[in-house]
Amino acid sequence: MTTDLVRMENERLEMRLLLEAIYQKSGYDFRGYASAHIKRRLEHVRNRAGLATFCEVTHRLIWDAEFFDSVLSALSINVTEMFRDPGFYRAVREQVLPVLKTYPFIKVWHAGCAAGQEVYSMAIVLAEEGMKDRAQIYATDINPPVLEIARRGIYPLDAVRHYTANYQKAGGASSFSEYYTADYDSVAVKTALKQNVLFSPHNLVTDGIFGEMHVIFCRNVLIYFGDDLQNKVIKLFLDSLCNGGFLCLGTKESLRFSEHADAFEVVDAREKIYRKRPALPTPEAEAE
Ligand SMILES: C[S@@+](CC[C@H](N)C(=O)[O-])C[C@H]1O[C@@H](n2cnc3c(N)ncnc32)[C@H](O)[C@@H]1O
Repeated sequence: MTTDLVRMENERLEMRLLLEAIYQKSGYDFRGYASAHIKRRLEHVRNRAGLATFCEVTHRLIWDAEFFDSVLSALSINVTEMFRDPGFYRAVREQVLPVLKTYPFIKVWHAGCAAGQEVYSMAIVLAEEGMKDRAQIYATDINPPVLEIARRGIYPLDAVRHYTANYQKAGGASSFSEYYTADYDSVAVKTALKQNVLFSPHNLVTDGIFGEMHVIFCRNVLIYFGDDLQNKVIKLFLDSLCNGGFLCLGTKESLRFSEHADAFEVVDAREKIYRKRPALPTPEAEAE
């Protein structure tokens, strides 16, 4: 083998040992994440800390709790915004909510909700469609500090112009300023939007299902996972949805190559909206 290949293989081994150390120490399991993403993030951590190798990063994170936390937060990408991909929210209004309106009560799960903007965007849409009071909304993320921001619902004022434009493109029926109160340099979402919303930590890799959901939003999360992990998490969603429940992914994500693709029908291929088909009867059930 050439020296370059040996070096790359050794580096991959060091990276695996680093992820193993994180898992052994905390239970956070990044071992199945997409390797290109993890490599980029760990290189960033290593360079920022002025360390030469991933083994040095491993040693330091084992012994230095503060450094450990900084590595964890570097591994999670929390970029988000209100009404991200406005066309997606239009599609939800037009293709998902008319079905959900026929139910007396709906359960909604935002998996990987980051700092909450996606949750409050949907809360606005549900309120405008007259459905907010009969919705129970679960909003989860692996990252507790980010969840705390979500719970507070306070965002920088300078993001509001962009959020307002997104809201309008998403078919907003009102004025976006009705949904927040502005302070000197921040805005706080109004308390009414937080009603029926439960924020809690949940790790899609290691934690269990949320039962009988009518719609699950998991947008821009699977993109960071390797193929096996994506399949595992899609099975978790399948088991968490009621028959006819909807699964909404990010625009760069898809069920197309998933081993569970047949369990869903495609509602909107462009906006990545899927619907769980009723389970086929088992041979035993058919024989009864
Ligand atoms: C890029 S943000 C997406 C936020 C939002 N869904 C959106 O589309 O704007 C990805 C989020 O997934 C979360 N995440 C990553 N791995 C996770 C896991 N194993 N379980 C739960 N959340 C996870 C991260 O903490 C981060 O907040």
